[in-house]
Amino acid sequence: MTKKYMIVTYGCQMNEHDSEKMSWLLENMGYEPTENKEDADIIIYNTCIVRENAELKVYGQLGALKELKVKKPDLIIAVCGCMMQTEIARNTVLDKYKHVDLIFGTSNIHKLPQLIDRHLQTGETIVDVDEDSREIVENISANRKYSFKAFVNIMYGCNNFCTYCIVPYTRGRERSREPKNIIREIEMLAKDGCKEVTLLGQNVNSYGKTLDYDFSFADLLREVNKIEGIERIRFMTSHPKDLSDDLIQAMAELDKVCEHIHLPVQAGSNEILKAMNRKYTREYYLELVEKIRKAIPDISITTDIIVGFPGETDEDFEETLDLVKKVRYDSAFTFLYSKREGTIAAKKENQVPEEIKHERFQKLLDTLYPIFYEQNAKYENRVVEVLVEEVSKNNKEVLSGRTRTGKLVHFKGDKSLIGKFVNVKITNPKTFTLEGFIIQ
Ligand code: 5AD
Ligand code: SF4
Repeated sequence: MTKKYMIVTYGCQMNEHDSEKMSWLLENMGYEPTENKEDADIIIYNTCIVRENAELKVYGQLGALKELKVKKPDLIIAVCGCMMQTEIARNTVLDKYKHVDLIFGTSNIHKLPQLIDRHLQTGETIVDVDEDSREIVENISANRKYSFKAFVNIMYGCNNFCTYCIVPYTRGRERSREPKNIIREIEMLAKDGCKEVTLLGQNVNSYGKTLDYDFSFADLLREVNKIEGIERIRFMTSHPKDLSDDLIQAMAELDKVCEHIHLPVQAGSNEILKAMNRKYTREYYLELVEKIRKAIPDISITTDIIVGFPGETDEDFEETLDLVKKVRYDSAFTFLYSKREGTIAAKKENQVPEEIKHERFQKLLDTLYPIFYEQNAKYENRVVEVLVEEVSKNNKEVLSGRTRTGKLVHFKGDKSLIGKFVNVKITNPKTFTLEGFIIQ
């Protein structure tokens, strides 16, 4: 009987893409996917550590699997991803969840088949984690969720040490992949029918700094833009401090680079930005946004915002509200500050009380949502190019897809259009989505 696997993924696109790679490795070993824990022969949790909530969910899930493991002793339970890059979380899993069989880190994903073999041969719990690997493993493929779009890692790790963030401690120092390897991967994707690529990195704007020669992110975009078959290029995430004029210029000039930038601001007050070690001021950020909009007038700008960073006063928070009103974001990921052991901010005495954090969070959403709506309202009666992604879960006659600016659009159509470009006239803009109809 064919063995089955299930992967549960938490966190960012980087993790999503790592799960696609593991799924490719497992299918090469003869495993088939399943969505049902009871049917699985291996269950993998690809974890995230950026906020406490995601971490607690994983422990909850692992606890719940104890019973299944008793019923099915041959079941392999694996935990990988960012949590496993920290000793504390690894020890917690080893001490409290003894039914876990494999523990591996973010740089050891390619070893999954060997780890499974080692466990099957010895019956032991296998732990394989590199604390800070500089190695970049090439030639592992990924099982893509969609055939027409793909994630491509261009760099790993982060050197920024924003004081709230655990990533530099878990994913290690920044390292860039060789351009030729990236280009080769994208050329292969294009041959395989892929039309859209999203270039992934913790901070893509500093791409190339670890290469032995001069080659920037803008240079990489110029090369990717030449690849036949690729029609849309996206990327994330951009640190505002490293966004160069050359990159803005490249975005404006290159026809395949989409009119969208995810530009995390995190906070609107200079005091807090300084305490976060973001290395820019609100004035710099606002000027940058102006520069980008001038070069690419229709660009959509999205962001990440943290509320309740230690020491954030009402006045500081008002500055965040004021900044979001000035920028007029198209969308935003908003987070309650979460204390992460090992970071500089976690040691600060002046933590903001939970109820104040929640109050500010709600105020932030109340400010953001009308802005999102107004930004989307600009699309009314406009015709936009949409790459059709899937049939809507709620209504089989409705398709969904994305504009170049990253907006999710719903419209009626046949599922044979999935993976194709259509023109949609927008009739009903909403806060988070656009509705319209296909025009020929
Ligand atoms: N608490 C809350 N949000 C955080 N992020 C990173 N670390 C934390 C933390 N400790 C958010 C930032 C980052 C996004 C990926 O997660 O906004 O941009
Ligand atoms: Fe974390 Fe800052 Fe690096 Fe982003 S840039 S991963 S927020 S340290």
